[in-house]
Amino acid sequence: MNFEDILQNEIHQTTDSTVRDAMEYSLMAGGKRIRPVLLYEVLKGYGIDPSLGDHFASAIEMIHTYSLIHDDLPAMDNDDLRRGKPTCHKQFDEATAILAGDGLLTYAFEEAAKTEAEPALVLEGIRILSRMAGPEGMVYGQCLDMAEETGRTDWEALKKVHKYKTGCLLSAPLMIGAVLSGHRDEAEALHEAGDLIGLAFQVQDDVLDATKTADELGKSNSDERNEKVTSVSLMGIDEAVKTMNELYDLAAEKIGGFRDFSSTSLIEVLKGIQSRSK
Ligand code: IPE
Ligand code: IPE
Ligand code: MG
Ligand code: MG
Ligand code: MG
Repeated sequence: MNFEDILQNEIHQTTDSTVRDAMEYSLMAGGKRIRPVLLYEVLKGYGIDPSLGDHFASAIEMIHTYSLIHDDLPAMDNDDLRRGKPTCHKQFDEATAILAGDGLLTYAFEEAAKTEAEPALVLEGIRILSRMAGPEGMVYGQCLDMAEETGRTDWEALKKVHKYKTGCLLSAPLMIGAVLSGHRDEAEALHEAGDLIGLAFQVQDDVLDATKTADELGKSNSDERNEKVTSVSLMGIDEAVKTMNELYDLAAEKIGGFRDFSSTSLIEVLKGIQSRSK
C-alpha cells in the first residue's frame, strides 16, 4: 500500500465526527511527507523492509500535521492557507481546529503502538517520538518561537529555536528508524544529523517565506507581517542561502559516515529536499 492509502485507511478507523473530518482534511491535503520518507530511508539503508515503519511514519505525519494546524491558529501565526487549502480553523472553526490537533496528537501514539516489532523496540520508538514532539522537543521550540516573535535575538539563539521547533520532528524519524532496525547505538548520531537537517530545513523555510508567493508555497507567508525574527531577517537572503547549503552538506557528510548503513539513497533524498521550491 502506498503511504497516502495507509494514512487514509488509519484515519478512517476513527469514529465518524466533525473532528475526524477536520483531522482528515488537514492530514490528507498533500504535504511533502518528508518525515515519513526519512524513516523509510533509514530502514532501507539498514537493509530492513520499510513497511516495518508504516505505523511510526503515519504517527510522525499525524504529529507534524497537528503542529501545523496549531501553528496556523490566530493565537500563533494566524495564517489562512496551508497545503494549498484554507487552514483548518478557516475551513472549520477554531474549536474544531484545536480538537483536530489534539486528536491527531493522541491518535498518533495509538498508531505507533500498532507496530509489530519487538515490544522493547516499539517502546523505545514511542519514547523518542514523545520526547521529540513534546515540551523538550517541538513544543519547546514553538514556545521559544512565540516568545521571540517581536524581540531581538542573534543567530545562536535562533539556531536553538530552529533546532527544537523543526529539527526535533526531523530527527525523530531518523532515530526511530535506527531503533526499529536494531541500531539503537546509532540513534544519537542520527539525532545530530537530524539537527543539521532541521536547521537547514528551517533556514530554507525562512528563505522561501521571504522569496515566494503564498500561491507558489501553498501556504501563507507571514513572517514579515508577524515581525518574526528569522534567518532572513538576521542575515539577509544571500547569507541565509549560503548557510542553508553548508548545513545540508554537513548533514550529508555525517550521514555518509554511518557504520553498516547504505547511505546513497538517503543522501539523494536530502539533495531533493535541498533543491525544493516549496
Ligand atoms: C512546514 O513543514 C513546517 C516547518 C517545519 C518548516 P513542511 O515544509 O514539511 O510542510 P508539509 O508537510 O510539506 O506541508
Ligand atoms: C513552524 O515554523 C514549525 C512547526 C513546528 C509547525 P513556521 O511557523 O515557520 O512553519 P510554517 O512556515 O508556518 O510552515
Ligand atoms: Mg510558526
Ligand atoms: Mg507558521
Ligand atoms: Mg515558516
